[in-house]
Amino acid sequence: MAKIDRVTVDKILDATNIVDVVSDFVSLKKRGSSYLGLCPFHNERTPSFSVSPSRGIFKCFSCGKAGTAVSFLMDLESMNYTEALKWLARKYNIEIKERELTSEEKEADAARERMFAVNEFALRYFEETLADTEDGRAIGLSYFRERGISDAMIKRFHLGYAQDRPDDLYKKAIAAGFTERHLVETGLAIKTERGTLYDRFKGRVIYPVHSLSGRVVAFGGRTLRKEKTVAKYVNSPESLIYSKSRELYGMYQARTAIAKKKDCILVEGYMDVISMHQAGVENVVASSGTSLTDGQIRMIKRFADSVTLIYDSDAAGIKASLRGINMLIAAGLSLRVVLLPEGDDPDSFAQNHSSGEVEAYIEEHRQDLIGFKVDVLMKDAGSDPRARTEAINDILQTIAIIPDVVEQSLYLDECARKVGVDVSALSAQLKRFVAKNAETAYNRRQADKARESISDIAGSASSQRSSADGIPPVEPPVDMAGEKELKSPPVQSAQSVHVSRAVYLAEEEVIRYVLRRGLLYMCDVLRHDDDKELVPMSVVDYVEYEFRFDNITFSHEPFAEIWRQTLWLRDNAWPAEWAARERELLERRATALALGQEDIRARGVDMDTIDKLEKALVERLDKEFNAGVDEFASSFVRRHLLRSDNRELTDLVARLTSDSVVLSRMYPKVDPRADACRKLPLAVNTLKSVLLKEELQCITAELGKPHGEDEIMELMIRYRKLKEISMEFDKFTGEIVIMP
Ligand code: CTP
Ligand code: MN
Repeated sequence: MAKIDRVTVDKILDATNIVDVVSDFVSLKKRGSSYLGLCPFHNERTPSFSVSPSRGIFKCFSCGKAGTAVSFLMDLESMNYTEALKWLARKYNIEIKERELTSEEKEADAARERMFAVNEFALRYFEETLADTEDGRAIGLSYFRERGISDAMIKRFHLGYAQDRPDDLYKKAIAAGFTERHLVETGLAIKTERGTLYDRFKGRVIYPVHSLSGRVVAFGGRTLRKEKTVAKYVNSPESLIYSKSRELYGMYQARTAIAKKKDCILVEGYMDVISMHQAGVENVVASSGTSLTDGQIRMIKRFADSVTLIYDSDAAGIKASLRGINMLIAAGLSLRVVLLPEGDDPDSFAQNHSSGEVEAYIEEHRQDLIGFKVDVLMKDAGSDPRARTEAINDILQTIAIIPDVVEQSLYLDECARKVGVDVSALSAQLKRFVAKNAETAYNRRQADKARESISDIAGSASSQRSSADGIPPVEPPVDMAGEKELKSPPVQSAQSVHVSRAVYLAEEEVIRYVLRRGLLYMCDVLRHDDDKELVPMSVVDYVEYEFRFDNITFSHEPFAEIWRQTLWLRDNAWPAEWAARERELLERRATALALGQEDIRARGVDMDTIDKLEKALVERLDKEFNAGVDEFASSFVRRHLLRSDNRELTDLVARLTSDSVVLSRMYPKVDPRADACRKLPLAVNTLKSVLLKEELQCITAELGKPHGEDEIMELMIRYRKLKEISMEFDKFTGEIVIMP
């Protein structure tokens, strides 16, 4: 896959409307100048996910995630940059001209593509083996037939069979041009310590796992042997293209039905899904025997409002799984439970009943989870008061997680009624649990925030990169006691420079101005070489001027990077783009003026009125022209930066520019010029003052150490001088603050 050339990238990004794109995944409602919906990146019940079409960015005010249409696709759909662009190109019918990739890019892209390709190859091999070989038909196909699986389902779920020979698939894949590396990385082949290779799935029937978009990311292989020593299932390992915690078996086949019914039925196994489909119940996915992850729950939430759990009447299994479903409740999904008749699992039940019967049974036996939990736990507790108390607390803890308070009180009533305890007693206990949850959540958020700001400051190139490629971030190596030697040297990037919180915040304030106001005209200054001529200064010029004056710059590396690119853009991209834009605006003004004058004269009123009308017209057009200039100049920097192929950068820029999506709703529109002029100097001076204070602290620390007399003297003088300036600053920033 080659990289897309810049011109095409620009064409795609020009055509892209972020509201369009996000709407393909999230239902949005217009709210003022932006759009609001439920955040697809975390679980929430009240919308805090905002999309600004004018800025082309999204931001979730609850989880803080922000980015462009491209980063939205990359994160939500696990696409890489090129895939996201291609997706957009398809959406907007733009032809892609590809340029050659650098060798590294080629390698990363190629690895993923080859892995998908090798999976496709394997899929065909498994399907053909099942359908067209003697063993396949005699062993694999007859197994599926025995279990009552129809040909239609075999086709729909792409079921297959792998020859029971050591390396049948491996050899065929190599012969077809695939490499050992990709076969091993996808897990189709296993390399022994001695270096021999064999097929992971040999002699098993195959259940391919499709991603939400229908790509084959993994396989499950079931043995047909009865021995206890053979693993019943082997599954593909985690890889560049497969993360178990992000997929749900059957989601690809079930997504339409789930979206239509707004309900997702959850079962355990491959066969359960397939048999239910065959019985006409298609909104079914399998957790594959493990408890659900956050990512899987989010995927369900994108399509459904409720989840229906289907349980065998095996009591131990139920109690075990009741523990794992609080996450679903916390996500705001309503949970319902269907208990199957004694001795049935979803697979056998679906096989033994007609499709109408299965559907009807589910409808009739659906029970809300809380009621179900009360029944199960109270029956178990019997009449022992201790056990009953424990059970009730368990139930209340589940009720405490329900995000909707009305729902919460309804369930509390139901619980009280069923248990035969006064509501007020339960209510007091419930409040305690709710408060405790809130506290835990608060603490976790604080911890996250602290961690975030640390990683924001320290920056972690490796995890950023991997998430950008849709690969789960690699856990940092754990520093194990006793293990002295590090396997690889720690990353020494400019980003690991320590920046204090105060400096970080002060710098952020300044960089926000740079991104929001960019090259907007701000003020005139006297040229310093001959102080007669006034030069107009933009926001960026002003910051540069101030920084240069005091010889400072951004120390938080991501800000520094924005700043470097900003200066580069101003010096290189701006002159030509501005000239073109100005010509456009002037032409527009001239045309509008000509048409307006014609119009005024055609009305044939007296000269005085004509004069007045023309004056008003010119005024209006000047205002429009100025607004056009301001809009172009202030958005210039962020517009360019949001188009960078550096994900870290675009998301940071989106985050820093997005607050005003909200601000503009709450405040009357302020003249951008006045706003920039009024508060930017304050921001710059605050930064300087923070830096000064830090230097003062350094000197104080130095003074505490043993030094020669001269050195002490020097430090003291420097301290006094800085202290004076610092106090000046405090006065200045203080003054500005109280100014209207
Ligand atoms: N599973 C697994 N590895 C195992 C056992 C189970 O990955 N060793 C997963 C599979 O996704 C399986 C699900 O857990 O589908 C449920 O396991 P189980 O109930 O044992 O298997 P069934 O799917 O019911 O298989 P079958 O009906 O063919 O026995
Ligand atoms: Mn089964």
